[in-house]
Amino acid sequence: MLEINSVSVFYENALALNDLNIDVQQGEIVGVFGSNSAGKTTLFNTIAGLTLHLKRREQRKGGERITITGSIRFQGEEISLSKPSDRVEKGIILCRERHPVFRDNTVEENLRLGGYMRSGSEIKESLQFVYDLFPPLLRLKNKKAGMLSGGEQEMVAVGMALMARPKLLLMDEPLLGLSPLMQKEVVRAVKKIRQQGVTILLSEQYARPVMPIIDRGYVIENGTLVVSGTGQELMDNPEAKAAYFGM
Ligand SMILES: Nc1ncnc2c1ncn2[C@@H]1O[C@H](COP(=O)(O)OP(=O)(O)OP(=O)(O)O)[C@@H](O)[C@H]1O
Ligand SMILES: [Mg+2]
Repeated sequence: MLEINSVSVFYENALALNDLNIDVQQGEIVGVFGSNSAGKTTLFNTIAGLTLHLKRREQRKGGERITITGSIRFQGEEISLSKPSDRVEKGIILCRERHPVFRDNTVEENLRLGGYMRSGSEIKESLQFVYDLFPPLLRLKNKKAGMLSGGEQEMVAVGMALMARPKLLLMDEPLLGLSPLMQKEVVRAVKKIRQQGVTILLSEQYARPVMPIIDRGYVIENGTLVVSGTGQELMDNPEAKAAYFGM
């Protein structure tokens, strides 16, 4: 479904992604693991088109700061030069790191914003799915999102992404800063989202909490692929084990 071939990203002279090859099959949950500044967010932003958007914006200002090379194919189609909105239309939806929400808007307003390009009946159906997935949000629907706990905000952020009706959902460190209990909730939700036919690529620093649900994983360091394989293969690999145990 998603094929990333020899993708590199340079900021100025710093290499953020180094000749990465990653593929995701329809229906899979695939993990990308790596420590701080490994390149996880750059990878996700590059798949969603935000890195290209930033590059073009900087070019208009006269800078030549960002270089992106390689190929990204989604459902057989080259998308590496597409605008972020075109990628959203194709079903590639990014849930960014650190649960960003519109703080002054209510929970339900945030969710509706996530579904802005969908029809009324689709919004109704997706809202129902999100509230079924995260029952606490129903109780909180008229509260300002900025008043919620980090875990609740993450539910809103994931809910907003779902409102856009993803085919491929990109989740950048969805567990970051959450309590173990809340992490379990999000992991359970990811599993349920996949059951809806959504393919998922997620990043985390540590693989352990998502090990039970991933089909395969990639470990990256300094933008470079270290190992890849099934959950079991990663656990059996000494280098991946460091990522798995977080040592
Ligand atoms: N806009 C930018 N301009 C310059 N350098 C950047 C920019 N964004 C990221 N970088 C650099 O690219 C590298 C990869 O950063 P990235 O944010 O992708 O890592 P990450 O794996 O998401 O880290 P974290 O776990 O902290 O979220 C880092 O060295 C970072 O400093
Ligand atoms: Mg990041």
